[in-house]
Amino acid sequence: MTAKSMEELTSLCKRRGFIFQSSEAYGGMQGIYDFGPLGVELKNNLKTAWWQSMVYERDDVEGLDAAILTPQKVLHYSGHEETFSDPLVDCRNCKKRSRADHIIDGKCPYCGSTELTDPRPFNLMFKTNVGPVEDEESFAYLRPETAQHIFTNFKNVVDSTSRTVPFGIAQIGKSFRNEITPRNFIFRVREFEIMELEYFVKPGTDEDWHQTWVDLRLDWWERQGVSRNAIQLHNVPKDDLAHYSKATLDLMYRFPHGMDELEGIANRTDFDLGSHTKHQSKLGLTADVKSNRDSTVRLAIQDLSTNQWFVPFVIEPSAGVERAILAVLNEAYEIERLENGAERTLLRLPPHLAPIKVAVMPLKRNHEQIVSVARETVKKLQFLGLGRITLENTGNIGKSYRKHDEAGTPMCVTVDFQTLEDDTVTIRDRDSMDQIRLPRTELSAHVTEAIRM
Ligand code: GAP
Repeated sequence: MTAKSMEELTSLCKRRGFIFQSSEAYGGMQGIYDFGPLGVELKNNLKTAWWQSMVYERDDVEGLDAAILTPQKVLHYSGHEETFSDPLVDCRNCKKRSRADHIIDGKCPYCGSTELTDPRPFNLMFKTNVGPVEDEESFAYLRPETAQHIFTNFKNVVDSTSRTVPFGIAQIGKSFRNEITPRNFIFRVREFEIMELEYFVKPGTDEDWHQTWVDLRLDWWERQGVSRNAIQLHNVPKDDLAHYSKATLDLMYRFPHGMDELEGIANRTDFDLGSHTKHQSKLGLTADVKSNRDSTVRLAIQDLSTNQWFVPFVIEPSAGVERAILAVLNEAYEIERLENGAERTLLRLPPHLAPIKVAVMPLKRNHEQIVSVARETVKKLQFLGLGRITLENTGNIGKSYRKHDEAGTPMCVTVDFQTLEDDTVTIRDRDSMDQIRLPRTELSAHVTEAIRM
């Protein structure tokens, strides 16, 4: 089951501390959100799951964490200055701006007036100045994607790791787009994170690799609780392709607001490495990138079987963290009708994504011995390194179960009077609500087995 509306999810996110409107106390900032105590855990777990599959489970991918501030020249030569824009119209009546593709029947979506300007391109990149002087020389951009610094670090990574194709560079990080109409909660925002892999391959093998990465990514989504049935593949029409792409396959997911893009998997060809190489050639740094291995900037690579130099093609699976969180939460969301007619709201999150792994509950909040054993149990579990383990000392077990069902906590452990006699605890499963009793000595192994990816 999924949420019936975005409001259901938004309300759960606020109530339980997943996601808050940023600067809410000052009226909020449109298209900017903060992740609360549960949100930051979910986000970290999701990024770890991506890194695990992209870097740790492979032998052919290196990681990178590059800067957000990006010199103007990088985004000039990448083509973003020229093309990374949305067509915009101004309403002469109410003075509001809208995206041209949001205009229906030639009317302003805010006031209905037909007094609109012709569409003009509006660049989505945020500008800033680096250093104390604000002039054309010092201006830089906040990166709109993480990919460009993967390309500008290509030579550094190849030189320091002796990689040859096929191999990839993975990066997760903040990206910024001055979206004209941020909307649908965290679906379209102005500050977000992207999980991106640039996978470098020999030209000619690119189309096979493109298909391979589509399959791998679908498997990954399944492991995060987003089943294959929930995703549709969309072959982006030629006219809608980004300026760098030869072909893009979008993974479309049924969000509460409708079917929309979750991840894009693009064949970027040799566009980016090629255009940064051309720029360096102009500066005389790479007179001949195809033969000069020691040139200052080398964005080509050598085929060790033929000794030929070539600029690799790039396959790029690129997924937004916020959209991933929205999809994962939506898939996990359920309102279950219980036998007694009551309802419970729960998040059936895969255990490795759950923000809190185990909540330990003393049956009596003021019973010194019971609370002390509960605290000791928490400490022991915390040192397993599985993530957050919390003490829930409200004394109201039923209420605590409801709270942790909504938080997606897979297991609740209760310490009661019997524990003081035989050192056993009750473990209650979130999904089935079944309870088992286990010796405390077996708890660590049980929890580890249940939580590991
Ligand atoms: N480097 C390729 C690239 O940036 P993109 O399709 O523009 O491609 C990649 O963005 C992913 O980032 C999208 O599939 C989406 O998940 C996410 N994304 C893009 N714009 C976003 C926004 N304004 N808010 C939230 N996520 C966004």
